[in-house]
Amino acid sequence: MAGLKIAIDGPAGSGKSTVARRVAAMLGYLYLDSGAMYRAVALKALERGIPLKDDLPLEALARETHVELKAPTAEQESAGLKNRVFLDGREVTEAIRTGEVAQAASRLATIAGVRQVLVAEQQRAGQGGGVVMEGRDIGTVVFPHAELKIFLEASPEVRAQRRWKEHQEKGENLPLLEVLREVRERDKRDRERTVSPLVKAKDAVLVDNTAMGIEETARLIVFLANERVPA
Ligand code: CDP
Ligand code: CDP
Repeated sequence: MAGLKIAIDGPAGSGKSTVARRVAAMLGYLYLDSGAMYRAVALKALERGIPLKDDLPLEALARETHVELKAPTAEQESAGLKNRVFLDGREVTEAIRTGEVAQAASRLATIAGVRQVLVAEQQRAGQGGGVVMEGRDIGTVVFPHAELKIFLEASPEVRAQRRWKEHQEKGENLPLLEVLREVRERDKRDRERTVSPLVKAKDAVLVDNTAMGIEETARLIVFLANERVPA
C-alpha cells in the first residue's frame, strides 16, 4: 500500500511545518514543505536584484532554478536541524528563514507562471503517495484529490506570538507588534491574490490549533489519516 497523500494548508505561523513534520514522522511518510520552494526562488531573486513586480524575468528565474528539499539525517535531526533546503546545489536552510525572504516569497507567489513551475515540481515530488505536503494551495491545486486535507488555523495574535518567539530564540529582537503586522500583511496578500489564493478546500477538515499543542494537533491528524486508510 503506497500510503496517502495528506495536504496541510493554512496561514503563516499556524503550525503547518512543525505539525506536518511530526505527522510524517509518526506515519513514516515523506514530509514536503512547498513554502521552502517559494522562499528559495525569492532568495535568488533578491540576490540578483530582480524587481519583485517583473513577472517575466521571475518566471524565467523559477524555470532555471533547482530547489531540492532533503530530510536531515537522524543525527542532524537530534541536533535540532529541520528540513534542509538547497538552491542550485547551495544550502540555504537558514538563509530563507528571514522576514525579508518571507515577504518576497509571498509577492513572488502571486505570479501565475512562477506557481506553474513550482506546482509541477511539487506534484512530481509527491506523486507516489505516502507524503505530507504543506503550503497554501496543496488541497486546492497541487493535490485536489488528496485523501486527507487539513486547513490549519490559529488566531493571528497567537500565530504572530509563535513567530516572535522563534525570532527571540535566534537572538533577533523584533517588536511583537511588527511581527503581527507582517503576518497580517502576508495573510492578506495570500488570501486575496487571484491565482491559487489561500482558501480552505471544500472537503478539508478545519483544525484550529490556537489552544492546541503540536503533539495534540499531530495526533488528531494521524487519527484522521488512519480513518482514511482503506481496510
Ligand atoms: O509552517 P507555519 O508557518 O504554519 O508554522 P510553523 O513554523 O510550523 O510554527 C510556527 C511556530 O509555532 C513554531 O515555533 C512551532 O513550534 C510553534 N507552534 C506551537 O507552539 N504550537 C502549535 N500548536 C503549532 C506550532
Ligand atoms: O512558514 P510560513 O507559513 O510563514 O511561510 P511559508 O509556508 O514558508 O511560505 C512563504 C510564502 O510562500 C507564503 O506567504 C505564500 O505566499 C507562499 N506560498 C504559496 O503561495 N503557496 C504554497 N503552497 C506555499 C507557500
